[in-house]
Parts: sequence; structure tokens; C-alpha cells
Amino acid sequence: MEKTKKLANGIEMPRLGLGVWRVEDNVATDAIKWAIEAGYHLIDTAAIYKNEAGVGKGIKESGVDRKDLFITTKLWNSDQGYETAHQAFNDSLERLGLDYVDLYLIHWPVEGKFNDSWRAMEEIYESGRAKAIGVSNFHQHHIEELMKTAKIKPMVNQIELHPTLTQVPLREYLAQEEIAVEAWSPLGQGKILENKTLVSIGEKHGKTAAQVIIRWHLQSDIIVIPKSVHEERIQQNFDVFDFELTDEEMKQIDEMNINERLGADPDNFDF
Ligand code: A2P
Repeated sequence: MEKTKKLANGIEMPRLGLGVWRVEDNVATDAIKWAIEAGYHLIDTAAIYKNEAGVGKGIKESGVDRKDLFITTKLWNSDQGYETAHQAFNDSLERLGLDYVDLYLIHWPVEGKFNDSWRAMEEIYESGRAKAIGVSNFHQHHIEELMKTAKIKPMVNQIELHPTLTQVPLREYLAQEEIAVEAWSPLGQGKILENKTLVSIGEKHGKTAAQVIIRWHLQSDIIVIPKSVHEERIQQNFDVFDFELTDEEMKQIDEMNINERLGADPDNFDF
């Protein structure tokens, strides 16, 4: 299993990272340090998480070389638009204490605005201050709408994805368009960790349900960013490169899909 995935523009993105949604600024600093120590290179934050400063502090205090990390942040809805996107990006960089990010995403498809935001993102990409750009929570029709005015195709779409929401049609479209798929709430926000199928597959491999789910994402070619603020779990979630799920086990997990969203549907989100 390769630890990175080559994006459409040739940038290598780590396949497994730490997500920090709903993590307080000061807690994020420790979580980042533990993650980097455990071998993570990818960190996923967003302006709306209000922890970019804590993430930046964790990066600095970890002592790791900046170029060995892959940092993602996102443009919040109220900042969408051409000028405001430029400003929001500069503010994110300042809070992070970085002079570039590895990936900048449009957080949600705010209708009537995301095409203008994208024009700013393309300029940011061309300036070298974001090594890759992409979107989050975009359905196929949002990407088609974006492509009507885009010069550069998004390299990533980060979507809600877990064994109870496997998003197969969207994943097939994204594969065809060479847009990498990244999963948020990959563990179903921890709600499916007691699931019998997952627990019993884990027992066969000496692994936890969380590790089984993370491995299912990796073997499905999905970039995955489980969230935890506990050192032991952060380590556990990265300890998934020494076992392999069988085709039968993969199928059993695929079949857990019930199209259950834990977050908002991008078509019905109160922007
Ligand atoms: P905590 O942060 O307290 O460790 P998701 O990434 O799908 O949003 O899931 C995150 C949720 O799952 C959080 O509540 C997190 O709790 C919990 N979690 C993350 N990793 C593990 C693990 N290895 N074992 C149990 N719970 C976990």
C-alpha cells in the first residue's frame, strides 16, 4: 500500500491524515504534535474550525520540516466570492503561520458564488501559495457547474463518506474525472465502531473496528482523515499499514451502505 496518492497535477498527497473538526484551538496543538510523532504527514483543518492558529503552533512545536507535511485548509461559506476568497486565504495563512498550504478547498458549494471563489483559488494556485486546490461537499452537478467557468479542474473532492454512506455513484464520477476522493467523518463520527461486522473482521486481524474502517477507505482508494484528540487513538488510527482486508471483507463492509448522512446534504444546506 503506497502511503501517498498522486493528484492530477502530480502532487503526492498522503492517503491518511488527522482531521481536526470540532477540536478546540489549544487541544489541536497537542493532537498535531502526537500525530506528527506517530508518523502522520497530512493535517486537515478549515477556517470555520477556528483552530488554524493551534494547528500552526503544533506544526512549529513538532520541529518537523514544513516541507515534509501536507496541510489542508478550507474557504468558509461567508468568505465566498472573488475578493473575499483572496482575503480569507491570506488570513488562513497568517493564522497557520505558513507561507503556503498544500491543499486549499472550497468548503461547501454556495450557489451563485463558488465559480467566483474558484477564480481566486486558481490565482492562489498559480502563485504557488496552494500546491493543490479542490472542493468539498460537491455533488456531481456542482462540479459540472464549476467546470463551465473553471480553467483548472479541482484535484480533490472531500465528502462525507463512511461504511454507512459509501457514495458509490459520486466516487465513480470522480474517478472518471481524475478527482481524488477524500472522506470526512470516515469513522461515521465514531457511531459505527460497535458494529458487529466491523468488530468481528477486526478480531480476525487483531485490529479494532476503527482500524478496519480506515483500512477499508485506504483499500478503496479514498484519502481518509479520522479525527481524534486522544494520543492512543491517534496512534492506533495510523497503525493500519500492516494488515490487509480480503475481497470478501471489503464486500461485507461495502454492503453496510444505507445512504445515511450524519452531516448536511450539500443540496439542502442552510448557507
Ligand atoms: P475522540 O476525538 O474523543 O478520540 P470521525 O473521524 O468519523 O468524525 O470520527 C471521530 C470520532 O470517533 C470522535 O468522536 C473520536 O473521538 C472517535 N474516535 C476516533 N478514533 C477512534 C478510535 N480509534 N477508537 C474509538 N473512537 C475513536
